[in-house]
Amino acid sequence: MKTKISILTGAGVSAESGLGTYRDNGGLWDQYDPMEVASIDGWRKNPGKVLDFYNMQREKLRAVSPNAAHRAIAALEERADVQVITQNVDNLHERAGSTRVLHLHGETTKVRPDQGLYDINFSEDEVFDIGYEAVRLGDMAPNGNQLRPHIVFFGEAVPKMERAIEQVQQADIVLIVGSSLQVYPAAGLYRYARNTARIFLIDPAEVPVRDPRITHIREKATRGMEIFTEEIFKL
Ligand code: APR
Repeated sequence: MKTKISILTGAGVSAESGLGTYRDNGGLWDQYDPMEVASIDGWRKNPGKVLDFYNMQREKLRAVSPNAAHRAIAALEERADVQVITQNVDNLHERAGSTRVLHLHGETTKVRPDQGLYDINFSEDEVFDIGYEAVRLGDMAPNGNQLRPHIVFFGEAVPKMERAIEQVQQADIVLIVGSSLQVYPAAGLYRYARNTARIFLIDPAEVPVRDPRITHIREKATRGMEIFTEEIFKL
């Protein structure tokens, strides 16, 4: 029976690919107001501004590549039963070869029809991948509605949270890589780990968590993944 590992990633796992994080100095939320470009109220008030923001994120994503941390996470699939649960909306885990990736906050390269106020009742078959192309006001879905980013905006529910909790509850090992653990409910996910599970945290900075089960590997993601892999397989 392969060891079950749930890997909870945040923006820090993509930092060494050249994608900025959100809350480090100079991060994305230093440059833009998330309430204007990444919230449901911002979408209602000025959808063009939100579309432009995600068009820019798609352009950036086109220009970067997965780093050694993404590749190390993908390589773990050969030796363990791995489920990636990411807060990231980039596609770098998939491009590195990970085959089981659950995006809690949506995906930059995907769009879906805007369904109005309570917009989580969309069906997966209305979601489609446009790659790195731009979406503009007036670009309509097959159902005639304006296309919107397939992103969980601030103020919207996180539809995949239940599935993520189930995965973490079954895990033998939980690994958190590169998240400041400030945005709920994703930030509280590791707490669903069994008491017998081992929890590791890879982050070069201090992260506000107090849990005796956590081993903090105070390194960047690429070096941290080397240490983690050696530790759990005792090379
Ligand atoms: N390797 C590992 N971790 C790193 C690296 C690195 N090279 N560089 C920075 N970090 C760490 C930072 O120390 C920080 O703890 O990554 C974390 C990044 O935190 P945030 O920028 O807050 O990103 P994240 O936790 O993913 O944000 C969660 O907030 O705005 C929302 O939806 C958005 O998914 C995002 C959520």
